[in-house]
Amino acid sequence: MSNASSIRCLITAGPTREFIDPVRFISNPSTGKMGFALAAAAVEAGWTVDLVAGPVALDEPDGAILYPVVTAEEMLHQVDALFDACDILIMTAAVSDFRPVLQHADKEKKDGASLHVEFERTVDILQTMAARKQRQTVVGFAAETQNVLGYAREKLQAKQLDWIVGNQVGKLGAGFASDNNQVILLAADGSSVELGPASKKSLAQQLIQLVTPCPPPAQ
Ligand code: CTP
Repeated sequence: MSNASSIRCLITAGPTREFIDPVRFISNPSTGKMGFALAAAAVEAGWTVDLVAGPVALDEPDGAILYPVVTAEEMLHQVDALFDACDILIMTAAVSDFRPVLQHADKEKKDGASLHVEFERTVDILQTMAARKQRQTVVGFAAETQNVLGYAREKLQAKQLDWIVGNQVGKLGAGFASDNNQVILLAADGSSVELGPASKKSLAQQLIQLVTPCPPPAQ
């Protein structure tokens, strides 16, 4: 018999940190709240949940298995290790797109340190997993300061996703940290549904219902 407890879900959350030296990094304002709310909602729905999270200040959601990571590369390796076993991947993480080419082993002293840091692109985890998916449903997020619908559609197609959740973030990152959110869920078939404004908890519950792999995998 098929039931919800046979669904294994892999969720990523929070920011990543890309170090210049042991005391300096680039990152972003993601708090991980949306990813943790989705993990809690998925547990509530009876799913088995693997949660890969960058550095966040949140309690581990009851019932989820937490895999803490720091850098985009660590997140890539952890997701890669868990992806084949999952039925659905939901990438809420705000993965850093760039990392310094050089990471200094020791703290750079300000006198004499270069004011120019050269960056290289990190691997796109979502795109990499979507390219090798078999039965998996793959869900991405697009946090945008403008043209949410247009950019979300582009990412849905470019990354070959089943779903993407678009949301507006404040010009200076304000939308990231809030407890409430308003999102648009786009499907690969071109349909869309607007959700919210509502609490991240309520949005997470609605999103888990909507992206449930259908029919659920056999037990
Ligand atoms: N993502 C990822 N790996 C990266 C960058 C992003 O898996 N190195 C995922 C995010 O988790 C999210 C989706 O890709 O689900 C979209 O991320 P976003 O930062 O909005 O877009 P980018 O593809 O990075 O493009 P841009 O920064 O140009 O908007």
